[in-house]
Amino acid sequence: MNAPDRSRLETGLLQERYAEVRDQTARLAAPLSEEDACVQSMPDASPAKWHLAHTTWFFETFVLEPRERPFAPCDPSFRVLFNSYYNGVGDQHPRAQRGLLTRPSLTEVREYRRIVDERVRALLERDAPDAALRALVTLGLNHEQQHQELLLTDIKHLLSLNPLKPAYRAAFAPAGPARALGWRDFGGGLVQVGHEGPAFAFDNETPRHEAKLEPFALATRLVTNGEFLRFIEEGGYRQPELWLSEGWSWREENRIERPVYWFVHEGAWHEFTLSGAHPLAPAAPAVHLSYFEADAFARWAGARLPSEAEWEHAAAARPVEGNFAESGLLHPAPAPEAPGGECAQLFGDAWEWTRSSYSAYPGYRPAPGAIGEYNGKFMVNQYVLRGGSCATPRDHVRASYRNFFPTAARWQFTGIRLARDA
Ligand SMILES: [Fe+2]
Repeated sequence: MNAPDRSRLETGLLQERYAEVRDQTARLAAPLSEEDACVQSMPDASPAKWHLAHTTWFFETFVLEPRERPFAPCDPSFRVLFNSYYNGVGDQHPRAQRGLLTRPSLTEVREYRRIVDERVRALLERDAPDAALRALVTLGLNHEQQHQELLLTDIKHLLSLNPLKPAYRAAFAPAGPARALGWRDFGGGLVQVGHEGPAFAFDNETPRHEAKLEPFALATRLVTNGEFLRFIEEGGYRQPELWLSEGWSWREENRIERPVYWFVHEGAWHEFTLSGAHPLAPAAPAVHLSYFEADAFARWAGARLPSEAEWEHAAAARPVEGNFAESGLLHPAPAPEAPGGECAQLFGDAWEWTRSSYSAYPGYRPAPGAIGEYNGKFMVNQYVLRGGSCATPRDHVRASYRNFFPTAARWQFTGIRLARDA
């Protein structure tokens, strides 16, 4: 294939991809009322309407503004209202006050999406887009997929605070049998980690580099609700020796004694899910755990959390298969049989906390300009999570993918895979 043909093909595929990802965001927001889409349940969580607008702002600001001639903003006030954290772009509406934006209306935000979509499509059709433009649109689509997951976890947090315990979607499947917890051994040595090759990856996954591993073992599945319940029943939340100092203070100050969506109803443990409240399924993975809870559980279990290099080394040899957003369950499922003693659930179900601080790989360089604020400036006071969750789009993750959250965050689908020294 000659170069112009290849460029036309790549542009066609990108246009299809653009429509697919943007439509998916709209589909996720479709079950929400105007009230559901506007309210903000806590500073960490954003209203669905804000997600719909901010992902559009990303394309308007980083794709249309530098490329479209002449360029005029859809609405000049949106530049501040829907800027998340890009100081290089300018001022931002305060994060904790996103829920006060009763205007623009949800209808107006949907219209904003429609106009920007039309203009991005026109831009891609007008001339053969160069590699830099294709890369920016691809980044915008991966950014949008991250917000698709946040839209789900944020709406879950909002609905969980409603005494009616409303369901976002009625799709919950009953839990299956629990699998015995096994261990898969890995030899130590020098391994390669990080992203390499022409496929998309975020800058924080690069450069690929060498890591030295001691022999280790990983649990063959995620920690289950049943196991976490034993931790609670045996006083895990009340034994300071199991907790990091900061974790113990956090637990005391916030009176934490159970995972955030667990509650007791008529003497039985229940869990709030995106399909409402259900009796706790013992074989399903325990989720919505903070780093502190994951770390304390691992210590109680006589194990530890894996490092991100250990996790990636194990996952790189496995197919990216699992319970992702496309399954429609929007909740982690019990582990399937892992053939040949391999690790199950490495991908999907729950983001797995690692013991690795989120920091730059050797030789890491963020992109110049405001877009370089995407990942690099958050490399402090956060831990890396791996593998994607039941709310992550299937084609969004890979073995080298690095998610990151602060130690006390509990509203994401975050779970535990145990590790130990061999
Ligand atoms: Fe964003």
